[in-house]
Amino acid sequence: MIGKCVLLALLVAFASASPVAQDNGMVDFREALDMFINAYKKMMPCGFAADNIPAMAPLTVDFFPFDYVNGETHLKGNVSNIRVSGLNNFQILSGSYNQSTLHATFDVMYPALQILGSYEVEGVLSIGGLLMPIRQKVLINKKITDWRFVGKYTFGQSLTNSNGLRIKDFNLQYLVGGVVAANWDQYMDIAGNNYFNSFINSFSVLFTEEIQPYVTPLYEKYVLPTLNDLLSNLNMAELINYLTSQAEMWNTADCSAQA
Ligand SMILES: *[C@@H]1O[C@H](CO)[C@@H](O)[C@H](O)[C@H]1NC(C)=O
Ligand SMILES: *[C@@H]1O[C@H](CO)[C@@H](O)[C@H](O)[C@H]1NC(C)=O
Repeated sequence: MIGKCVLLALLVAFASASPVAQDNGMVDFREALDMFINAYKKMMPCGFAADNIPAMAPLTVDFFPFDYVNGETHLKGNVSNIRVSGLNNFQILSGSYNQSTLHATFDVMYPALQILGSYEVEGVLSIGGLLMPIRQKVLINKKITDWRFVGKYTFGQSLTNSNGLRIKDFNLQYLVGGVVAANWDQYMDIAGNNYFNSFINSFSVLFTEEIQPYVTPLYEKYVLPTLNDLLSNLNMAELINYLTSQAEMWNTADCSAQA
């Protein structure tokens, strides 16, 4: 469920900064997209049951048990009372589209995401044959600032349907301004907790840098096929129609909740 929401949020962030060609006459694509994004943002605090979209601002998870086995690694535990806020506060810093080249760029930022909750895990982690026993009971208190997605792509003809669309030449980078973890593991003392928090903070930023070469390939492997599958069924006029009717539907939720 969370995976689906994150994917949806990414797709929207992605779509939101993608002013695409105007279909001659009729409705302006950019107008349709604006309607779509505004309706989505407004709907996020309430969710939309008919589409199986849970409330996402804040996004909450009461309880989620897991039991992960992979080779000698065995981790069992649960995540509870998760609350992620700030997902609906994304800002579109810029976007461009060239009608003759069908090339688009986007720049979207989440100024502040706060993640609160807790998790417990017990088991054994195998790292290159080295077995590490794990036992944690952690209150999560983490804030991510200025999480930014900068990307570009070009629209092309779908490979499976000559009337449909496809995203090609996709390139994405993401940047994290800062990560502040103030987690608390009840099995550790103050010094241990401080050590781990500073480790998470610097590791998160380092991880962001290290992962850059893999962001585009990962996106191409896991997100684009889904997106292109959807786009292959639509020409531009149909895409505009989809966006406006989705916006109208979400607007019926009449969400007035405050995130
Ligand atoms: C998971 O949650 C339950 C509480 O519902 C708890 O009893 C259990 O010990 C938890 N922890 C692990 C590691 O499974
Ligand atoms: C669109 O791209 C073409 C070809 O690169 C270029 O000549 C033109 O100036 C661009 N148009 C805009 C509005 O940037």
